[in-house]
Amino acid sequence: MRRIGVIGAGYVGLTTAACFAHLGHRVVCADVDRRRVARLCRAEVDLHEPGLARLVAEGLREGRLRFVVGNREALSDVDFVFVCVPTPTGEDGSADLSAVRAVLREARELMAPDAVLVIKSTVPAGTTDRAAAEMEGHQVVSNPEFLREGHAVQDFLQPQRVVVGASVESAALRVLDLYSGTGAPVMVTTPTSAELVKYASNCFLAMKLSYVNALAELCEQIGADIGDVTEGMSLDDRIGASFLTPGPGWGGSCFPKDTKALLSTAESVDVDFSLLRATIDTNEHQPQRVVEKVRELLGPVEGRRIGLLGLAFKAGTNDLRDSPALAVAELLAEQGARLAGYDPCVDHGPVPVVSSVEEAATGASALLVLTEWPEFAELDWPDLASRMARPVIVDTRNLLPRDKVTEAGFTLLSLGTPASTTRPTTAGL
Ligand code: NAI
Repeated sequence: MRRIGVIGAGYVGLTTAACFAHLGHRVVCADVDRRRVARLCRAEVDLHEPGLARLVAEGLREGRLRFVVGNREALSDVDFVFVCVPTPTGEDGSADLSAVRAVLREARELMAPDAVLVIKSTVPAGTTDRAAAEMEGHQVVSNPEFLREGHAVQDFLQPQRVVVGASVESAALRVLDLYSGTGAPVMVTTPTSAELVKYASNCFLAMKLSYVNALAELCEQIGADIGDVTEGMSLDDRIGASFLTPGPGWGGSCFPKDTKALLSTAESVDVDFSLLRATIDTNEHQPQRVVEKVRELLGPVEGRRIGLLGLAFKAGTNDLRDSPALAVAELLAEQGARLAGYDPCVDHGPVPVVSSVEEAATGASALLVLTEWPEFAELDWPDLASRMARPVIVDTRNLLPRDKVTEAGFTLLSLGTPASTTRPTTAGL
């Protein structure tokens, strides 16, 4: 059993705190947000993360997990401090490290000399080394977090890898020991390389998605089908099948800021990373592309009611941060559309939110599928068609069963698919 302080009780901090408590450690989780802490003390978790509320309740009940306002307790009288505060995009595109710096200032005053400071927030290469220089003798280690929202607990307890960057081996081993209950493959490297593993991974995934979105646009112009193209690609195990579905653009709390921050790092050392610039530019153009598809079917959208299916940036989460669904909604609202958004895990947001798909469809001139919630593939299509002013669907996740939807009388437009594709049959080959 170790004593662990976790600074920040958001997606990463709360998951880290609850999971380490579950693994048997004694954890104090601190946040500056009083209301968040008060709710967590009552075991109220407002993040949609399977298993997280249960682990929080278990930790509180068994006395291994506590939530506090202010960082003092989580920095003193502990063996490890995990920094899990936000690193948003700064004005110049680089990562804004002010929250991390604020924690470091407090940590320097309050941490016991033999305690290890672990930076779990996503920070640019070089940050951990600079923090170590400022921390006057404390061990400072980089331990980037790779959890996926919607799978946070599973990814923490059964991670695909634990990466630790440390300049002193003993500090790395002490941090790795905390994860010994997970059986995860581990990797020890320098702090700078560990920091870069995180950015390099997220930016690679963003690049893969931008590539597929650009391919989808090309398919539309030359009469190919993106579903068949990516299926063929994915049979090559060097490429793999994941992150090959087109969509309305990538979003969420990580990819947009991490791509900008890595580009900023490259620019700061005069490295031409135009591949990353193109990845970002391609993404920024996607919401507009979706709106053009809607206009292709409806003409001007002014005064028309449009139902949005899905508001979160991806299925499995209620996170609206940098959601492409909201970017599409904003463009449509600017053009005078009347919006009704439905998401199974979101009950309020910057667009009017309704409580069912049927409500979103009633009186609408079009439905837009914007988040890949699996239940959107299994709707009562004839019923929805009968509720709408015009039975039109734009499926930006290529999720819907084309035959059933069109049989119900819908005009359906998806991404990267020519309007009428005649599929050759494989029967008899
Ligand atoms: P979040 O916004 O969900 O939570 C951050 C928490 O830190 C908030 O509750 C905030 O009140 C608190 N906070 C801010 N300043 C503080 C301070 N000085 N002292 C104490 N608490 C403070 O952020 P999230 O998503 O957990 O991200 C944290 C870091 O982890 C970021 O660097 C992010 O890039 C990284 N990360 C996020 C992942 C995700 O899926 N959300 C995945 C992997 C890494």
